[in-house]
Amino acid sequence: MKTSIIYHSYSGNTRGVAEQIQKACDGDLIEVRSKEYSSRLTAYTIGCYRAMKGMCDRIEPEIIDVSSYDCMVIGTPVWAGRATPAINAAVAALAGCEGKRAIIYATCGKNAPETTPILKKALEARGVTVAGEFVFDRAGVRDPGRINAMIASIKATGPE
Ligand SMILES: Cc1cc2nc3c(=O)[nH]c(=O)nc-3n(C[C@H](O)[C@H](O)[C@H](O)COP(=O)(O)O)c2cc1C
Repeated sequence: MKTSIIYHSYSGNTRGVAEQIQKACDGDLIEVRSKEYSSRLTAYTIGCYRAMKGMCDRIEPEIIDVSSYDCMVIGTPVWAGRATPAINAAVAALAGCEGKRAIIYATCGKNAPETTPILKKALEARGVTVAGEFVFDRAGVRDPGRINAMIASIKATGPE
């Protein structure tokens, strides 16, 4: 099974989880970089506003072609209770995603009950089936047991 791990990370937590998935599943890491935020202040002000409104940042790469993958893992930091505007843009930038399966995860400071359900809906609107949702708080990103539970679910997704 060929897996792409698509993630945005502002301060490293979501990247750290993505790298663990990559080691365990031998997938391709695709980092989504926002072109919008020059400082923590702009991330907290403009970024949170844009996240709350479900807006899309200008990102690099501009197109994410997943046609050669069986499974996608999509990871987002939580901003204002939502996926980041960079991940919103990544969902819009997916090419060849129709009919694919995805596992999604979010990393947050405290909790984020709405983040993955909203991200799931956006992916379903692109024809993607979301087979699992995981949220890791500050303790969760450092808990190998919880990360391994997600990895097991990624391995169980898609053709062998
Ligand atoms: C702009 C901004 C907004 C955030 N908003 C929330 C939030 O609403 N709820 C929450 O639990 N954590 C929030 N956090 C904490 C991050 O979601 C958390 O630290 C996450 O793991 C960061 O991922 P990263 O290191 O990959 O960027 C926020 C962090 C930033 C920078």
